[in-house]
This record gives sequence, structure tokens and C-alpha cells, in this order.
Amino acid sequence: MEKKHIVCIVGTRPEGIKMAPLIQALKREPWARVTVLATAQHRELLDQVLELFGIRPDIDLDIMRANQTLPELTARLITTLDVKFTELRPDVVLAQGDTTTVMTAALVAFYLRIPFGHVEAGLRTHDMDNPFPEEMNRLVAGHLARWHFVPTQRSRQNLLREGIDEQAIHVTGNTVIDALLDVAATDRPLDIPLDPTRRLILVTAHRRENFGEPFRAVCRAIRVLVDRHADIEVLYPVHPNPNVSNVAHELLGDHPRIRLCSPLDYAPFVEAQKRAYLILTDSGGVQEEAPALGKPVLVMRSETERPEAVDEGVVSLVGTDEFRIVEEASRLLNDAAAYGNMARGVSPYGDGHASRRIVAILRDALGTGAAAK
Ligand code: UD1
Ligand code: UDP
Repeated sequence: MEKKHIVCIVGTRPEGIKMAPLIQALKREPWARVTVLATAQHRELLDQVLELFGIRPDIDLDIMRANQTLPELTARLITTLDVKFTELRPDVVLAQGDTTTVMTAALVAFYLRIPFGHVEAGLRTHDMDNPFPEEMNRLVAGHLARWHFVPTQRSRQNLLREGIDEQAIHVTGNTVIDALLDVAATDRPLDIPLDPTRRLILVTAHRRENFGEPFRAVCRAIRVLVDRHADIEVLYPVHPNPNVSNVAHELLGDHPRIRLCSPLDYAPFVEAQKRAYLILTDSGGVQEEAPALGKPVLVMRSETERPEAVDEGVVSLVGTDEFRIVEEASRLLNDAAAYGNMARGVSPYGDGHASRRIVAILRDALGTGAAAK
């Protein structure tokens, strides 16, 4: 049997986490020859997660530059992916999500007429400015894909409304839940001394549309919140983007109950989510993981492409207004009933078997055997 050559692209931390279970599953298939291509749009953050999942890229483009701009990043990616895809001539290119890596991989695959599979397809806010530039990235990738692996019925509907052929859309769940359940099954050390008598608030933030004043307001809110509640402690692993890390250290660096640290490896970060009382974030992945762990999430954004958990009442959109963040977080800290309503373990984004379904669909589509159900 001639094996089908599948190139799996990873660029940033969340792509590493969400592609890892799929890469592992594909590597177990006798019909598939897998090449892992890391653009390394992120350097340290990507290396961290690939190492945890035991994945060594076959090709590493080492694209990242300090404080890279979107046009220069896009240009470098298109040029280098063109060279590599032309050399490899794979049967399929697979990429996940809405980063610049994914948008350029879809575009270059399209130009070279290589079928592209989009993992975590169909997420939309219908607002090009929120999140920026991700809404554009996923629209482009979505309209170039041969296979759309969508996490939920909602994301399927989004694609149908855009005129995507329903035969090309497959509801698989999100592979992040495969990764999460795998990692969360084992209790691991956090290696950060936390005060067990205090309630832990876990914070992450990195969205480009929040750079500048919105992010400064988020930091002020965190400070006010900690000052107002003597029994809480904040753990904030700071994203290395200088637009984030410089401001976070300037505004929060000197508070005795706010612990800023470097980005955590995925396993300790999952452990931190398990230990958290409440999570404040603008991250996409955390909005998917925290509900599955039964942790309430306040999303510091005005819109989300992940409305399912909001509809379930376990995630709440609070924007970046300082007073609103303080008010909503204080309500959850003071009102046990309100907290209880949000701290229900629900997992609208997956059941831990998304990778298996994606593999079966590809195996069927590539004519290499009957699809498993
Ligand atoms: C990128 C994605 C975003 C995704 C996020 C996940 C785009 C446009 N943005 O945002 O969709 O949600 O990753 O975290 O694709 N840096 C390091 N080391 C690292 C990673 C980043 O130093 O390991 C710094 C560098 O200075 C780099 C900067 O962060 O230039 C920005 O990285 P970039 O990938 O362009 O954007 P993110 O804000 O990380
Ligand atoms: N994460 C991590 N370490 C951290 C912060 C986040 O491993 O210090 C994980 C988190 O569990 C989630 C993913 O990184 O799976 C989210 O990445 P990020 O917030 O950077 O990107 P987004 O999901 O918003 O695209």
C-alpha cells in the first residue's frame, strides 16, 4: 500500500497543543506518512508543548523574530512554506485554528493545489476587528479548505451560512479536549509556591486588539481586585509578547499577592487551572478547557467565537472595562450561589475523541480503508 503523505503544521503554542493528539493518532496509522512541519512562529512556547507530547518536528522553519509585525511574518511564512511544500508535494496539509501560520499554510497549499484540512474550523465572531487578525485568518483558511473539522454544531452552521459544501464539513469536537483529558488525568507538580489558604485567580492575556489602554485597564482591574479581597492570590503566567510583558511587569510587578511568572509548560498550566478558583483570560484555548475542568471563566474580550460555553452559563464575557472586571469577579468571590452556577463541569467543545474522528474521515476520504465510526 502506498502511504499518503500528510504534512501537519504547527506554529504557535495553541497549535502545538491542539495538533499534538492528531499527530500522535496519525502516526499510529499504517496508511499515513506524517511530516511535522514547525513554522516556529513561536519559538519557546512551541518547543515547550511539543516536548511535553514527545513530538519532534521533521522540519523547523524557525520563523519567529522578536516583536514581529504581521506583514513581515506573513511574507516570511509564504516564501518559506512555498519552498517546503513544493519540495515535499504532500497529499494533504493539515493545520489548526486561526494564526498567521494557518492562514499562510492554507494559501500556499491552495496555490500549489494541495488539499488542505482545517482543524477547529468554523469559529466566527463576524467582526474583523475582534479578534484581530484571527477572524480574517480563519475566514481565508475556511474558504480554501477541502475538509473542515468543526468542533460544534454552531461552527458547522457558521460555515453552511457562508456557502461551504455540507459534505466537506465534519463535526468532530475540538482536539484541545483530547489533549486536556490526556494531561489532566495525571496530577503533576505545579512547582510554584502558592498559599493554600488563599483562593487562586489564574490570569492570561495576549490579544492584539487589547494592546495599549484596554490591557492597561485589565492590569488595573487585577490590582484593585487583589486589594479588595485579602483572601485571594493571583497567578499570571505572562505571554512573552513585549506589548504584554512590559506592561504586565510595569503595572503588576510589585504586588505581594500577584505572582507574575514565565509561561508555564502545558502540564503545570493545566494543574494551575485545576487549582484555580476563578480564571480571567482573553485566551481561546482556556475558554475551551476551563469549563471541562469545572472552573468559571471571565473572558476579557467584547466578543467570542466560542459562544457555546457562554450559553451554558459557565463562561461570561466581561470586556476590558476596569470596573466591570472588578465587579463581575467580586460577585463570584462573594456570592457562593452565583459561583456554583458557573462552576459546573461541562464540555461543549469535545469529548476527548476528536482526533480519532478526524483520522477516520481522512482515511475514508483518501481511499485507504473504511472509516471507523
Ligand atoms: C499568536 C497568534 C494568536 C494566538 C497566539 C497564541 C497571530 C497573528 N497571532 O499571537 O492568534 O492566539 O499566538 O499565543 O498568528 N514571543 C516570544 N517567544 C515565543 C512566542 C512569542 O518571544 O515563544 C514574542 C516575540 O517577540 C514575537 C511576539 O511574541 O514576535 C509575538 O508573537 P506572534 O506569534 O506574532 O503573536 P502572538 O501575540 O504570540
Ligand atoms: N497555556 C499554557 N501555558 C500558559 C498559558 C496557557 O500551556 O502559561 C495553554 C492553555 O492551556 C491553552 C493554550 O495554552 O491550551 C492557549 O494558548 P494561548 O492563550 O496562547 O492562545 P489562544 O488559545 O488564545 O490562541
